[in-house]
Amino acid sequence: MATIIDGVKVAAEVRGRAAEEVRELAAHGVTPCLAVVLVGDDPASASYVRMKERDCAEVGIESRDHRLPATTSQQELDDLIDALNADPAVHGILVQMPLPEHLDPESVIERIDPAKDVDGFHPESLGHLVRGLPGFRACTPAGVMEMLRAYDIDPSGMRAVVIGRSTIVGKPMALLLLEANATVTLCHSRTKDLEAVCREADLVVAAIGRPKMVDASYIKPGAVVIDVGINRTDEGVVGDVDFAAVEPIASAITPVPGGVGPMTRAMLMANTVAAAHSAAPRGQG
Ligand code: GUN
Repeated sequence: MATIIDGVKVAAEVRGRAAEEVRELAAHGVTPCLAVVLVGDDPASASYVRMKERDCAEVGIESRDHRLPATTSQQELDDLIDALNADPAVHGILVQMPLPEHLDPESVIERIDPAKDVDGFHPESLGHLVRGLPGFRACTPAGVMEMLRAYDIDPSGMRAVVIGRSTIVGKPMALLLLEANATVTLCHSRTKDLEAVCREADLVVAAIGRPKMVDASYIKPGAVVIDVGINRTDEGVVGDVDFAAVEPIASAITPVPGGVGPMTRAMLMANTVAAAHSAAPRGQG
């Protein structure tokens, strides 16, 4: 029987710590502020944005909502980002992805002031991660690291396998585990004999986007299994891991829902508070 890693609980702890820092900043007259930009009316994106706003309210972060029509031009979006970059009251900027087809996500991400890049998607943030320098880390992989810490799971010396090489999750996840002294293998759709590679692992992070793909044949008994997948299926939301099959052999495992998902938003709150700290005048906050 595996330890079930409770993301709801750890996320609440992260928000609690962020709320404490918000109170300290308030004593210096600073209220952290997150600007959330949503272009178009994708229902899943709108629902994420609503949840982020609820988290901000709980933590004491001011959230500024910028809802733009799907017909917004690149110039209009660029102008908004420029205005948010220039506004000293705004500490973090999040542009909800995916953007409508006619907008270029790369140029939008690069336009955000790296000091306000609370998503950790800017090339400067990613460069700092590669070089082991301080900077914003992408919220989902940072959330995974926080969960491991909360359950005293130290990746140092472990063989870790990350499945999925996205810029948002897989690549930064591999780098964060490397930074934590794991021996990391980054697998993807062209990996040969993926099951055998995964069976070598003490820690498996699944970030593929294929419902229940990782079954017991991928997992060494006693391994730690982190499921980043959020797949909407006829049977509801399921992860990339077949939880019922893997839970009996893992030493610890994250459920879906209630695992990594809540951590992503909690780390966004933590990054926004950190951005406000850095922006506060020296000696304050
Ligand atoms: N769309 C889905 N997840 C995310 C996220 O973490 N950040 C942004 N900006 N867009 C997303």
